[in-house]
Amino acid sequence: MIRSRERSMPAISAMNCLVTGAAGFVGSHLVDELLQRGFGVVGVDNFFSGNRGNMSAFIDNPGFSFFERSIAENDLISKIKTQHPSLQHCFHLAAIVSVPYSLNHESETLAINYRATVALLRDAQRLGFSSFVFAGSAAEYGNETRLPIREEYAGNQTRQLSPYGRAKYLASGEVAASAIGVALRFFNIYGPGQDPDNPYSGVISRFLQMAGQNLPLTIHGNGRQTRDFIHVTDAVRAYLTAAGLDGGAKRPPAGCYNIGTGEGTSIRQLARIIRNASGNSQPVEFHPARPGDILYSRADIRRFTAITQWSPQVTIEKGIAFMSRH
Ligand code: UD1
Repeated sequence: MIRSRERSMPAISAMNCLVTGAAGFVGSHLVDELLQRGFGVVGVDNFFSGNRGNMSAFIDNPGFSFFERSIAENDLISKIKTQHPSLQHCFHLAAIVSVPYSLNHESETLAINYRATVALLRDAQRLGFSSFVFAGSAAEYGNETRLPIREEYAGNQTRQLSPYGRAKYLASGEVAASAIGVALRFFNIYGPGQDPDNPYSGVISRFLQMAGQNLPLTIHGNGRQTRDFIHVTDAVRAYLTAAGLDGGAKRPPAGCYNIGTGEGTSIRQLARIIRNASGNSQPVEFHPARPGDILYSRADIRRFTAITQWSPQVTIEKGIAFMSRH
């Protein structure tokens, strides 16, 4: 796992990777892995939801340079590139990540998650970047009932459930239509470093926190709803693969790709796995279903796996076992 692995540091190459959202949960794991593999990284974050603590493992690394900026700033990449002319890969993760916030801030969400993304993409293209990898989302599919969910199920007729989902859908479409763009539609990412105190973080970090305090796990609804939980290290390898930076793995052509495990785990199953791994002896508590929740979600990942050599490696049992020990 990324944060506990001790490896000798390879020689740092020129700063060729730009990561927006570097102080976020996934962004900080991505920066960490890029540095461990010897890539120089420029990180951007404005701490809207990310935090400095997430960057503590690499903030002093000589291969890392940080800019506290908003992605909505005009000509952001051009300005950064004057200081780091070798930049050639952009990983764009910065976004308004809270679905409930997006419901109350529709125009801000469209401005940041959609229009600022398109502006960055155009900037990257004009400056000759070779790849632009975008953090799309399963929220682009709205309440899709056909399972497993295939990329082509999201279309202009799809009704996303939030401005967050709509903006991600619009941005993914622009990214996928560009020559250098890959939009990765992530299902439910989990792993170390996800803040359980944030009410919008995923169920796994919340359940692990409850289990750690020997509190009952709270299941909303009957617990038969399913999600496709993907470990952050698998998500990070998908980012590297999408940019052609994962060793021998084949780089995919421009387009949209689902990233998940292809497996659905019910919230009941998840509670059982977490109680077993943590020794939590409390019976689970059932609460009313969360309004607006979708029932079932599971990715069809064949489009990405058929082209690249990427495949998910961390089972939910392994991922949870590791997190409950640390
Ligand atoms: C939600 C967000 C999604 C975000 C993700 C973070 C919506 C529509 N989608 O998705 O954009 O990326 O969170 O992971 O808001 N649950 C419990 N008990 C709890 C917490 C959650 O039973 O204490 C249940 C929920 O009711 C839900 C399932 O667990 O059915 C998964 O919840 P969650 O991890 O929040 O993910 P999503 O609902 O998929």
